[in-house]
Amino acid sequence: MHLDEIMELDGKYYMNTFGSRTPVCFQYGKGINLWDTEGRKYTDFYAGVAVSALGHSHPKLVNAIKEQAERFLHCANLYYIEPQAKLAKLLVESSCADRVFFANSGAEANEGAIKLARMFFSKKGMPHKYEIITMKKSFHGRTLNTLAATGQEKFHAHLKPLPPGFKYAPLNDIDALKAAITDSTCAVMLEPIQGEGGVNPADIEFMKGVRKLCDEKELLLILDEIQTGIGRTGKLFAYEHFGIEPDIFTLAKALGGGVPIGALCAKEFVASAFEPGDHGSTFGGNPLACAAGLAVMDVVFGDRLAENAAAVGSHLIQKLSALKQKYSFIKEIRGKGLIVGIEFSLEIASDVKNKCFERGYLIGSIGSNILRLLPPLIVATEDIDSFISTFDSILSKII
Ligand SMILES: Cc1ncc(COP(=O)(O)O)c(C=O)c1O
Repeated sequence: MHLDEIMELDGKYYMNTFGSRTPVCFQYGKGINLWDTEGRKYTDFYAGVAVSALGHSHPKLVNAIKEQAERFLHCANLYYIEPQAKLAKLLVESSCADRVFFANSGAEANEGAIKLARMFFSKKGMPHKYEIITMKKSFHGRTLNTLAATGQEKFHAHLKPLPPGFKYAPLNDIDALKAAITDSTCAVMLEPIQGEGGVNPADIEFMKGVRKLCDEKELLLILDEIQTGIGRTGKLFAYEHFGIEPDIFTLAKALGGGVPIGALCAKEFVASAFEPGDHGSTFGGNPLACAAGLAVMDVVFGDRLAENAAAVGSHLIQKLSALKQKYSFIKEIRGKGLIVGIEFSLEIASDVKNKCFERGYLIGSIGSNILRLLPPLIVATEDIDSFISTFDSILSKII
């Protein structure tokens, strides 16, 4: 189909919640590249918002999906599921968690984390401890609870009353967090690096302070690693940078490499609060999604993609920092590994993003003055150099 026809169908029938989309429709992809309906090639520096960790059409992922589809796609969670058991083992063995529950998305994994935290205290005879403190500028999903957990007013508009039980504190302010804790608090939930909120990393001291506070006050620490997990920050899980361990953490996005899957990972002492009947999912942990997850993890480990993210990511940050010296309107470069934010002192983010698109690069913008780069974890140093040269040329003509 031609782009015009696709756009016409979309305009007439799709319930658009995404605003005016970029006028392009991709037909196939390979590695870090995508091709559109007109055969034009793009370089993907966004990875479908941190999803396509292996790039596009990775043969190991494609084969795993094909093989599982040829056997069978689905069975109820009333039966044992081999790829589910194997993926749970792999995640447990490579993290601080003892048990994993699979969901279908990030929001669903976070819903599970919220339920688990509340049930943990309720079953200990403390049902009054139900409130979760999250961070201002956070993003935790689009269900009503995860929106309530999201510390950004703009996501709450026209939805009041929101589910109760959430309170917000500023990131990297341990005193403010301390002051927000009450007898009702059951957990603190945060992203190690806020993704949707503008690529805002938690400080090491803050994260250590949060862990200490949670221990002292007997609160659970929940880390939302939906965007930062599976190697993106240069470690398999971002919490590894901070020398702390969460009690619960959640994954999604890159875990399936494009096949929807979410994971709720927890230490035994808290995981055991979920008893038969307390939680469930029709599709969560299905054979197809878990076979995809296993293939992703196999490539992430085998090709040392977290290490690649660390090395190539620091090259990217170094090159962008050099551009910051050159262009006074670059205010700050933030991030770790291959989650990188570029903050401008001018409202030029959309313009720069559109110019990157015209030059064949897919990147993201947040608000009017922040760009976000999330290339696939397979990206190479040379790909960064090509991007930087295009980006430099775009910035040189921006004002
Ligand atoms: C940190 C974080 N948590 C949760 C979510 C929600 O995930 P999903 O869109 O898969 O429900 C996102 C999505 O961007 C995210 O970045």
